[in-house]
Amino acid sequence: MSSPPQVLAERFRVALGNAFGPELADVDPVIRPSQFADFQANVALPLAKRLGSKPRDVAARLVESLGLSDITQPPEISGPGFINLTLRPEWLADQVRTLARDPRLGVPTEPSQVVPIDYSAPNVAKEMHVGHLRTTVVGDALARTLEHLGHRVVRQNHVGDWGTPFGMLVEHLLDVGEHSEEAELLVTSPNDFYQAGRAKFDGDEEFAARARRRVVALQAHEPETMRVWRELLELSKSYFHSIYTLLDVTLTDADLAGESSYNDELAQICDELEAAGIATVSEGALCVFLDGFTGREGKPVPLIIRKSDGGYGYGTTDLATIRHRVRDLRADRVLYVIGAPQSLHLQMVWATARKAGWLDDDVEVVHVQIGNVLGADGKILRTRSGGPIKLRSLLEEGVDKAGQVLAQSRPELSPQDREAIALHVGIGAIKYADLSVSHDSEYTFDFERMLSLTGNTGPYLQYAAARIRSILRKAGSPVGDADVVLTEEAERLLARTLLGFGDVVTQVGVTLEPHRLCGYLFELAQAFTTFYESCPVLKADDDSTRASRLVLCSVTLDVLVVGLGLLGITAPEQM
Ligand code: ARG
Repeated sequence: MSSPPQVLAERFRVALGNAFGPELADVDPVIRPSQFADFQANVALPLAKRLGSKPRDVAARLVESLGLSDITQPPEISGPGFINLTLRPEWLADQVRTLARDPRLGVPTEPSQVVPIDYSAPNVAKEMHVGHLRTTVVGDALARTLEHLGHRVVRQNHVGDWGTPFGMLVEHLLDVGEHSEEAELLVTSPNDFYQAGRAKFDGDEEFAARARRRVVALQAHEPETMRVWRELLELSKSYFHSIYTLLDVTLTDADLAGESSYNDELAQICDELEAAGIATVSEGALCVFLDGFTGREGKPVPLIIRKSDGGYGYGTTDLATIRHRVRDLRADRVLYVIGAPQSLHLQMVWATARKAGWLDDDVEVVHVQIGNVLGADGKILRTRSGGPIKLRSLLEEGVDKAGQVLAQSRPELSPQDREAIALHVGIGAIKYADLSVSHDSEYTFDFERMLSLTGNTGPYLQYAAARIRSILRKAGSPVGDADVVLTEEAERLLARTLLGFGDVVTQVGVTLEPHRLCGYLFELAQAFTTFYESCPVLKADDDSTRASRLVLCSVTLDVLVVGLGLLGITAPEQM
């Protein structure tokens, strides 16, 4: 089904053609929500420019041929020539009824594109940090949303699983024993494992020598070394998996496409670029110099693709990622959900790939920039002692705190129920806090604010959903397909907000900004609260009003649950 602005825009297009001739039918009617009416159309101004007439006159002529009487009250011309449109309650009610029957709740299905999404990408044998938390949460919301819009999303978890530290890590794993308690740290507290290996490397000459030999063996793909390296990966996979499960994200082992998976292609990539004259040797390293990428004093900044010791780097692997995603996955659109500071890196990789003919203009590549997560001190979030935060502890703390809030607000709940709800609320609060600010700006991690039951928070939305569930439970019989009648202003506002869901989801698909969906859901929950405060539902004056309001409740619940679901947040039955 089409949203009200879409229906209105269509009518405007027809009217434009009728009143001004087909050559002006291409003027795009911009229909926006307005504080003066439901919507405001900005058509007369651009049209008047083309016609060379007065905007208000053009608006008057347009209004005459509009024929909107089935949808809106008589349009009003305002200001320099805007057209204010107020929807008729009967039409709005009809639309809500259609929405209630629409399994997609007004969300269109788009022509399917192939969209690889690079997100999460933690490093083997290292703790995930809050930066990883954010790319994981944002990437997963985008994956779910684009899938819902009908696209084929290919999740690409570009884990860091290769490079010189792996000599030390393999050697350390052999030292402690693959089935030892020390090895188990890779699953429970990977930084402790890493640091123990690192300390040995720095303090023990003999170990350091072995670690260096191990790097050579690894690069030569020596079978026993590879076996232990794979074991290292397995243990890390369990760690990632435990975090993903707790976070309730859709990434699975099948989505792993780590750095090492491109190993066999790196030499060829370098050769090809060198043969094409795109890469040149400079001070022993193979480099790509690109126009427009200069550092201090205008000195060109190269993308180094083979170091002077023959090793490949992060840039080389990312050339392989873009080539693979375009050539093998046949991507239409590629998203890299990666920290904002990596922008230059990606720009250089893509520019190189374009030169090499691996990336055409018909493929859209996007860096979904991830901003920093800050602590109360305004610096990157760390533990009190200044160490890196253990992500699992942070998530568990959130769940714990949600449990404390529930113990206060719902003392009558059984401990089991409380625990189950706390998991939804704690994780939902953390994810929502992350998603509700634009992904490229910083935000301050603050449990108290994110767990608050008021304001633009996950728990506020979950609570709104739980409250509707409780109303529907008390209503007894299923809601059914009753007539919708909108008499109160709060009902009208709720109805209009409900009908905006499809457009917002579409917008998130275009702009890749989940915070827009958060903003919408918050607005919806507020509209519901206002409605619920002024319009009795179960105790409505008559049966038909009660039935109509129950339909409003039920569609609101559906939109909240589906909307939160697109963000990767669950709405518990009760709160
Ligand atoms: N593993 C990297 C890190 O932890 C992120 C990788 C992002 N993806 C990519 N294709 N470069 O910083």
